[in-house]
Amino acid sequence: MTAADFETRVRRLVADLDLAPAEAVRSAERLAGGVASDIGVVDLGDRKICVKFALERLKVAAEWHAPVRRNRAEYAWLAFAGSVVPRSVPALFGWSAAENGFAMEYLDGSDIVLWKAALLAATTPKDEAATVGDLIGRIHAASTAGDFDDGPFKNAEDFRALRLDPYLRFTAGRHPALAERLDALSDGLDVARRVLVHGDVSPKNILLRGGTPILLDAECATMGDAAFDVAFCLNHLVLKAVHVPAIRPALIEGIRRFWIAYAAHVTFEDADALEVRVAALLPALMLARIDGKSPVEYLGEAERERVRQLAIPLLASPPSGLSAFLDRLVWDASIHG
Ligand SMILES: Nc1ncnc2c1ncn2[C@@H]1O[C@H](COP(=O)(O)OP(=O)(O)O)[C@@H](O)[C@H]1O
Ligand SMILES: [Mg+2]
Repeated sequence: MTAADFETRVRRLVADLDLAPAEAVRSAERLAGGVASDIGVVDLGDRKICVKFALERLKVAAEWHAPVRRNRAEYAWLAFAGSVVPRSVPALFGWSAAENGFAMEYLDGSDIVLWKAALLAATTPKDEAATVGDLIGRIHAASTAGDFDDGPFKNAEDFRALRLDPYLRFTAGRHPALAERLDALSDGLDVARRVLVHGDVSPKNILLRGGTPILLDAECATMGDAAFDVAFCLNHLVLKAVHVPAIRPALIEGIRRFWIAYAAHVTFEDADALEVRVAALLPALMLARIDGKSPVEYLGEAERERVRQLAIPLLASPPSGLSAFLDRLVWDASIHG
C-alpha cells in the first residue's frame, strides 16, 4: 500500500469511528510494521493517535480472512486486558469492521522506551520483568473466570500457523534427534484452551512508561496454554542474558522474579505443573529463535552456537522447574562469558 493509500484508509477509519472528520487528518506516518498489519501514527491536529489495520485485501479470500480475524482478536485482547490492568495497555478508541482496523492511544514522550531497546542498551533493569509477570498472571487468571467470552479467541489455527509451525515444527525439521520432543511440545500447545494467551509477549511488544510496562501487539491472541506466554517472554530474557553480559545477573534474577510474580496469580491450575511446562518449553523456544524460521537478529554466530549448546541438553533431559533450568543455565560456563 502506498503512503497515499494508507492515509486514505486512515481518513475512513477516523471518520467511521467518529474520532474526527476525515479532513482533520494532517498526516499519517507508518511505524515499522509486522507481517499481517499496517500500523501508523496519525496527527489529528489537536492530538495524535495510533492506528492498526489488517493488511489490505489479499487475492485469496481464505488468506484475507486470517489478517482480519487477527486484527479483531488483537483489539479484543487489548480491550480485555484493559479491563484487568487498565494502566498497562493503550487506551482504545474503537474497532471498525468496515476498515478492519482500530485506533488507540499513541504512546509518545521522553518517558517512553521500548523494553527491547532498554535491554539491548544494557540499561539496568528496574524489576520490569516482575511487573510483566504480574500483569500476564492477572490477565491469564481473569480469562479463566466463568463469564469470560472466548468468542474472539478461537484462533488455534492462526496460532499453529504463526507460532507452532515456524518456531517449533520447523526447528524439529532442523534437529531430527530432538524432533520427537519438539513435536510433543507443539502437540501439547496445540490442544490447550485453558487461558487467553497473548502469543507474542516479547520486549519488542512492550513499551515502558516511566518504568510501567504497556503491552502491545496481541495479533496472535488465542485460547491456549498459559505456559506459552511465560516461556516466550522468559526466553527473550535468556537470549538478552546471552547477548548483554553487563546486565546478565540482573536478567537471570528477573527471570526468577517474573515467575514469582506470575505464579501468585495461578489459581486456574496447579502452579507446579505449569512451571514444569514452562521449564520444558523454554529450551525449545531458545533453539527455535536460533534455528527456526524467525531467528533473533541481534545474536552473532558465536552467541547462536552458545544458545544451541545451552538449549540442546536441556531439551534432551528437561529441567524439573525454573530453578533447575536457571541452575543449569548459570552453571554452564558459556553463559558466564
Ligand atoms: N499505541 C502505540 N503507541 C506508540 N507506539 C506504538 C503503539 N503501538 C505500537 N507502537 C510501536 O510500533 C511497533 C509496532 O507495533 P506492533 O503493534 O508491535 O505491530 P507489529 O504487528 O507490526 O509488530 C511497536 O514495537 C512499538 O514500538
Ligand atoms: Mg510487534
